[in-house]
Amino acid sequence: MAEPILFVNGEYRPLSQASVSVLDQGFLLGDGIFDVVSAWQGHVFKLDQHVDRFFQSLQATGIRPRLTKGDWKEAILETVRRNDLQDASIRFIATRGVPQGIIADPRHHEATTIVWAAPYIFLADDEGRRRGIRLMLSSLRGFTPDTLDPRYKSLDRLHFQLARLEAVDAGYDDLLWLTRDGYVAEGPASNVFMVTGGTLVTPGREILRGITRQTFIELAAELDIPVREADLTPYDLFNADEVFTCSTAGGALAVREIAGRTIGANAGAGTPQVPGPITRALDELYWRKREAGWHGTAISAG
Ligand SMILES: Cc1ncc(COP(=O)(O)O)c(C=O)c1O
Repeated sequence: MAEPILFVNGEYRPLSQASVSVLDQGFLLGDGIFDVVSAWQGHVFKLDQHVDRFFQSLQATGIRPRLTKGDWKEAILETVRRNDLQDASIRFIATRGVPQGIIADPRHHEATTIVWAAPYIFLADDEGRRRGIRLMLSSLRGFTPDTLDPRYKSLDRLHFQLARLEAVDAGYDDLLWLTRDGYVAEGPASNVFMVTGGTLVTPGREILRGITRQTFIELAAELDIPVREADLTPYDLFNADEVFTCSTAGGALAVREIAGRTIGANAGAGTPQVPGPITRALDELYWRKREAGWHGTAISAG
């Protein structure tokens, strides 16, 4: 397999020659932000929305790479082209870079910029995608707006890793964490929806504003499925007809169990169908539209 090519600080380099300083603040402090966009069948999905979200985090962190939005889009598309990918997960990163002095003054820096394209990543394996996943309720809470607003897509993810470790060690596929007030927030790489009485409900605060989440809200409108945001507790999810998570890494992922409770057990007679009918309809529409180039930017140059 050919060596991956990455964009690093304005140059395209093979992975073996792509490096940043060990003094980079992204490495030392997690002082940086990133975003992940995906390509499917030759089209990058909602590229403008991902770059806009990235620029909101840049503005809020005060990290100032020299690249314009147009430069980032071109670097993303060119990185995918150079790796000859049609289906890809593309991570683009800006850190505060290398400090000017020993005591790093966060105001003075030259940002580090990276684009890395890998073959498309699904959050779950085949079995999880077919039969649904099992979620733990993490003992860790999500970030709160008085520490790190969850809208920052920050590199600082130790807390995410600890939650993941706890979940996989306990035999779960993934996890949800709650807000400090005890409401359902999200997972470390996905937002969550539940279906109750034909309505789609999703948490509306203390979450990353997921682009897939927004997409599923749009798709629900097309299918005449009512949607609302609400403060949900685990009790609501335990009693939902259907639950699914969603992310750039795979669209919707049906949830069959949360903390030992079978999802949909109260929805009808017999064993619940997973994915449930609304999850399935939304996910099928998502992929059908993506395959038709919906919100797509073609990778090919011409
Ligand atoms: C904390 C968190 N929530 C939600 C998501 C889903 O966001 P998106 O749909 O934009 O991929 C992610 C994506 O990585 C995430 O890190």
